Amino acid sequence: MKLPIYLYGSKVLRERAEEADLSDREKITQLIADMEETLASADGCGLAAPQVGVSARILIVDGRDLTDAYPYLKDFKRVMINPVVVEESKQTCDYSEGCLSVPGIYAEVRRPEKIKVEYVNADFEHVTEEFDKFACRMIQHELDHLDGKMFVDRVAPIRRKMIARKLSGITRGKISTHYKTRLD
Ligand code: CO
Repeated sequence: MKLPIYLYGSKVLRERAEEADLSDREKITQLIADMEETLASADGCGLAAPQVGVSARILIVDGRDLTDAYPYLKDFKRVMINPVVVEESKQTCDYSEGCLSVPGIYAEVRRPEKIKVEYVNADFEHVTEEFDKFACRMIQHELDHLDGKMFVDRVAPIRRKMIARKLSGITRGKISTHYKTRLD
């Protein structure tokens, strides 16, 4: 089932999401299916459960539509349940980010270049995996959502001033998107 995407200004996006209860596999599998459908229909490359109003530590990243810019993402898709970053590089890099919950705003954000993540995948297997380049970036963006953070919090102050007006527009519902949204 396609779900509405909660917009910047919604409370659920500012809360720390709860651990997913791994004993309820049916519920998790259904939520992941709904999130995948929602993400695909919104043409996004990543989605975290809080963005569909669910307080659960689950995220999806899908780079398969980004191959023009990042050819190595050809087969890159991950579903992560209860992900934990166990290592991150001191080395950082800058990438432009956007977010389905913050339509129309893109900004450079600096984050660690590499991370190692422990997570449970959609088949309920425990995985430890390292990521770099834009794959790493997509995951870090979604991990932030699980902690109630958003990429606009991390942009340089001067740039934040420039986007402040657009952000307040979103919180007042002054935005149009091709996917269904909610502000709550
Ligand atoms: Co986002």
